[in-house]
Parts: sequence; C-alpha cells; structure tokens
Amino acid sequence: MNNTIVIKVIILALLLYSCSRPAEKQSTTIYDVLDNTIETKVDSLLSIMTLEEKIGQMNQYNGFWDATGPEPEEGAAAKKYEHLRKGWVGSMLNVRGVKNVRAVQKIVVEESRLGIPLIIGFDVIHGYKTISPIPLAESASWDLDAIQKSAGVAALEASAAGINWTFAPMVDISRDARWGRVMEGAGEDPFLGSRIAEARVKGFQGENLAANNTIAACAKHFAGYGFAEAGRDYNTVDIGPSTLNNIVFPPFKAATDAGVRTFMNSFNELNGIPATGNKFLQRDILKNDWEFSGFIVSDWGSITEMIAHGYAKDGKTAAEIALNAGSDMDMESYLYVEHLARLVREDKVEKHLIDDAVRRILRVKYELGLFDDPYKYCNEEREKELIGSKANHEAVLDMAKKSIVLLKNDKKLLPLKKEGQKIALIGALANDKNSPLGSWRIAADDHTAVSVLEGMQQYKKNTLVYAKGADVSLGKTAFVTETKINTTDKSEFKEAIESAQNADVVVMVLGEIGFQSGEGRSRTELDLPGVQQELLEAVYKANPNVVLVLNNGRPLAITWADEHIPAIVEAWHLGSQSGNAIAQVLYGDYNPSGKLPMSFPRNVGQVPIYYNYKNTGRPVEPDPDIVFWSHYSDQQNTPLYPFGHGLSYATFNYENLVVDSVNSSIESPQVKLSVEVTNTSDVAGKEVVQLYIRDVFASITRPVKELKGFEMISLQPGETKTVSFVLDHTTLGFYNNDNSWIVEPGEFKVFIGGSSRNTIMSNFNLD
Ligand code: NOJ
Repeated sequence: MNNTIVIKVIILALLLYSCSRPAEKQSTTIYDVLDNTIETKVDSLLSIMTLEEKIGQMNQYNGFWDATGPEPEEGAAAKKYEHLRKGWVGSMLNVRGVKNVRAVQKIVVEESRLGIPLIIGFDVIHGYKTISPIPLAESASWDLDAIQKSAGVAALEASAAGINWTFAPMVDISRDARWGRVMEGAGEDPFLGSRIAEARVKGFQGENLAANNTIAACAKHFAGYGFAEAGRDYNTVDIGPSTLNNIVFPPFKAATDAGVRTFMNSFNELNGIPATGNKFLQRDILKNDWEFSGFIVSDWGSITEMIAHGYAKDGKTAAEIALNAGSDMDMESYLYVEHLARLVREDKVEKHLIDDAVRRILRVKYELGLFDDPYKYCNEEREKELIGSKANHEAVLDMAKKSIVLLKNDKKLLPLKKEGQKIALIGALANDKNSPLGSWRIAADDHTAVSVLEGMQQYKKNTLVYAKGADVSLGKTAFVTETKINTTDKSEFKEAIESAQNADVVVMVLGEIGFQSGEGRSRTELDLPGVQQELLEAVYKANPNVVLVLNNGRPLAITWADEHIPAIVEAWHLGSQSGNAIAQVLYGDYNPSGKLPMSFPRNVGQVPIYYNYKNTGRPVEPDPDIVFWSHYSDQQNTPLYPFGHGLSYATFNYENLVVDSVNSSIESPQVKLSVEVTNTSDVAGKEVVQLYIRDVFASITRPVKELKGFEMISLQPGETKTVSFVLDHTTLGFYNNDNSWIVEPGEFKVFIGGSSRNTIMSNFNLD
C-alpha cells in the first residue's frame, strides 16, 4: 500500500471510532493523531469527502427554526434540517446564543457522516449586545488602539454567545452621504480606512484565532459597493482602474495583510460584471495577487441576484459563474447545493476549484479550533458572565467619548457650566433610548441605550427642563414601526419655545433616528428630517444660546445651523452609553478630540464631495466674474466641514514644518518631516496631527491632497511637542492603470495640520 492509502485507512478507522463516541467528549480529534499542520489535516479530510459533502461546506443557511425546539417536519425548514444531517451545510448565520448554536452544531457533529463543525456567522458590526458607536463614529476617533479594543469587546461578547465569525469590518470607501451604509464604514479616505481596517481585523481576530474569545473577521463588500451611483444602495458601480486601485482597494488590501480570514463579495455590479461573478476581483486580485488564503462568502442571495442583473440566465448558470469567479460560499441563494454537483459532472465547473473553495473553508475552521472542540464557544456560564458586563459598558463609553466631534464652538458656549444654570433640553432624540443603538445592532435589546436626558440628569446642580418639540420624520424607512413616519406635527413647538425662553442655555438633540441610515436606507436629502429644521429656527429665535447635538448615521447638510448656532456637536449614534458620553463632553468632563472621517456638504447637490479631489484643468478661479471654471453658480465648491475637521476645548498652533532629510532614491525614498504643535489654551487636550502630500505632476493626475500619516498627541496647557513623520515607498507612490505601484520623481508638497483644510505647507523633490 502506498502512503496515501495507508493514511486514508487510518483516517477511516479513526473516523468510525470517533463516530461511535459523542463528539463533545472527545479530547483530541482524529486529525491530531496524524499530523499537526492544518494544511495536512485539511488535505486528509478533503480526500475522504464526497463531492456532495464538499459542496455542503460551501453552503450557508440562515437560522430558520427554533433550534432548541422540536425538529421541523415540513417545508424549507425541514429541508435545511435534512441538509444539516447530511453534512450539506458548512455554515449558518443568524443563529445566536449558546443554546441555539449548540443545538445546530450538535446536528452536524453527531448526525452527519464526517461531523465537520459549522462556522457560525453573525453581523457583529458595532458590538454584540453591549453596543459601541456606529463604525463611522468610531472612525471619527482616529484612535486605532481604541477601535481595535472596541472590536475586541465585540468579539468577546459574540464569542460568548456561540458566534465565531463576524461579517465585519465593512471597509467600503464612500464619498456619498446619501448612501445609508456610510454609517458602517470608515468614511472617505483610503489611508485612514486602511489603518482602521487593520485595527478592526486585529481587534476581532486577536493574536490567536483559536482562542475562545476571538472570532474570524470578514472584509466586505468586495468591491466598489460604496460607489453606488447616486448613493442609492445596491445601484450600479462604474469606476475606472485609478479609483479602484487607489481608493477602493487599499483598505481591502490592508485587511488582507492584517490577516483577515474571510471576505464577502458584493451586491453591486462593477463595470458591467456583478461582483459575485467577478473573476478579476476574486481570483485575479484577491486570491492571486494578494495571496489571500481564507475564503469568500457571497452576500445574501447575491448569486441569485446575478439573474436580475442580467448576467446569468438562470440559477444553475449563476452558480457556475459564481464558483468559477471565486465565490467560495453561497449565502442563502441555495444554488451551490442545488446545482454544483451537476455542474461538475457536466464539466462546467472543475473539481479542483471546488477543492480549492472547500480547502479555504476548512482551513479557517481548523484555525478557529472548531475541529478541536466544535462547542468551544458554547459555554453558558461564560455567556452569562461576559455579555453586558460592567467592563464592556466602560469600554463602549470610552469609545463613545472618543468618537464625538466638536464641529463648532463660538463664544465658548461649551463646556456648559456645572452649577446654577437653567438648561432646556429639546428634541425627540434627546429622550430616545433606541436610536443611539444605531443600525446593525441585531442582538441588542431595544431601548437600552442611555439617553441624552438620562446622561444630563447626572449633573444635578443645574435645572434641566425637557421638551420634545417634534418627532423625527422618517420618510418611508422600512422596519420601523414605533416611530412616527412623515410627521408634520408642530403642536409641541410651543412648549419647546417656552422652555428655551426661560433657559440660560438650550441643548437641542436633532438628526436621524437609528434606522434612518444603514442597509437600504439611502436618502435624497441630507437635511434634518421632518420639521426639525423649523423647530431649530423657532427655538433659536427664542434663545440664541443653542448647543446643537447631532445624532445621525451620515454627514448631514446643516448650513443654516452653521451660520447661526454657536455650538455644534457631532454625536452620531454612539451606542449603549451614548447619553453619558454626550453629557460628559457637554460638561467638559471629557475634552473632545474627534475628527471627521467624511466631508460634510453644504447641500446635497455637492455630493459626492471629498477632500482628495483632482484639481481639473479649470481649478478654482478667484475672480467671480469669470464663469468658465469648475464650480457651481449657486454654491461654493468647498464642503461645510472638511475631512479631518474637529475642535477641542483646547486650541493648537502648528509651526516649524521642516523637511528634515530627503533620500530621494526612487527605489527606496525616505523623507523625514517634523512639525511643532503647541497647546495655546489653558486646558489639556488631544489633537490628531494630520500629514497630507500632493504629488504635483505625475503620469496619472494625483489628488490635491492625500492623507499619508497621522498621530494623536496629548498636550498640557502651553506645552509644545515635536511630531515626526517618515514618508517612504509605501506612501509616496500610487497605482498606475496596470495595477503597479510606482513612485515618480518630481516635486511633492507636504501639508500638516489639524484638518485637511487648516494646514501649513512645505515641499521637497524626488529625483
Ligand atoms: C446583507 C449585507 O449586505 C451584508 O453586509 C450582511 O453581512 C449580510 N446581509 C448578512 O446579514
């Protein structure tokens, strides 16, 4: 007998032995006996799997019946149950809680022939039950350690609930605030987005994926989803190679380099080819060029959707296209399990591609340690102890404070005085315990966030009077039943106006409810929904000392507010501890340091708007009488608040930007820079020092500014710190249209400052 046959015989013998024992009691697995490397284990297992069992690993089902209840007897649920038993399901999503996960895991482990454990996926987007700020808000912290820690807390809770795979981070860059899913990403910039992608992947996956408190991450949606035309979710994406390579791909590449174990493809088509059936994206770029060794899951039903796209004529063809293009796992299209075996027999799909997909899926399962113990995430005591713990709430409070951006603070209206003040608190969102949880918080208990009202009530030495004023209007947002839709009711304005008249300071909490952004929640307007703008103006007339606190999942166009309201605080949807975080910032117990990860437009007509735009052949012309330059006749080109903008209760001065040294070799350039930053105020504060460059002439036109570095520093009153940066091959180049990274000689401008707009400048040459 040759070696392979010997191994197979041993495996089969061990398999028979293992099947005779309840899987939960096994201490070592059959594959440990043979070899310890995961690759060998995967190969051994592959060699004894039938084609149907292999395809089963590529099939993912949604949770479909009360997993702890009786076995379903008919319909789709019964069919899925039967598939679990046969080993025709490799993963389930939306099964959560130890009891439920254990129940489904038990079916495959104990009843299927090979007992290959399921990988259990869930959208752990910003926390599991203890909810952290929406990802866009967290990104506003620019605090990579805090973001990594926050993902770690989410992983801790999710893993305690039996979950071992999150469909996060979403690393789609977007320049369009109309797109509801900007709440789920890191904003408009590929450099910041890449650093945040790395932090989130590390946070979810930790140092050791096999530990029971870490889970596999998923970089999504590959690719271009954030560039949906007109910001309408799922819409067509048509972008050229330069945008794809330099803007869209970098965070995905960064996630890959950080070791992300899975990818999700995307609903959209990219340049005429649906992402799910896109071989260039999945095989050429991701699996070949980037050497990604994990697996790709389709988005929900996205294989079937290729029929509606007009790309596949039926389900069978869709399965063929998706598999050949490199989609390894079918989420809820049922097409792999239905058609792949036949497609192999008809030679339309090559067996080695099936093996490749299954190998990738098994590899991740091994890495998670699921073969060592399929129930390793199923411990009721751990679940009870860890989910919703005090420590987790402290962590999300810390993250929430760091996510707040002070947009404006004229006349030092903030921080509020802590004593002897009469404060009118106005707005439905101020008394809302649900909206702060934001979109994508499936496992959270509704109405459990700390409201702004509750947060401010902690400061007892002031008099606080609350008046709703008006409801938030929603438009036709789906899935929201408890909030009034399209309300124009102004009957409560009067009470709000009176409370403002009697107050020293008014705090108004306005914006969007939690489900007004997120998947399927695109908007054509970016103003304050409903009658909130009218309420704001009426209250301002009664008392101009207004602090406007925004709760929203996307940049809003608040031009009137910027012109009139003295203090504006961007507080997003901040999660379970939202109200405490907001109150602590308003009262100065926490000095805000957040910076916008997306530009805020002056009106919706400016969208898409972003700081790293191209100069055009007709850039801004200062002479207002000349018409023919790239501009609008009714609005400025600049955003209301630029990318990177954010104030502090401290003030900072930047000077002495020095190019310390230049090694201008094109192969390995190195430019050292430094700048002095001084806290010119009498309070301590944190500042995010931002470094931008401009490659003045290049073989492909470059943006007017590109972020290439940032550092957060803390400064005591009057203190000065020197901040240094090094630019090198990885930051001085760009991708050309042949997908090659190049650094070109010539002049570079360098800008350093506290936002993309307020910078000081220098320059250097590479020759
Ligand atoms: C569709 C969304 O696009 C994706 O991001 C999510 O992970 C899946 N649904 C699963 O819920």
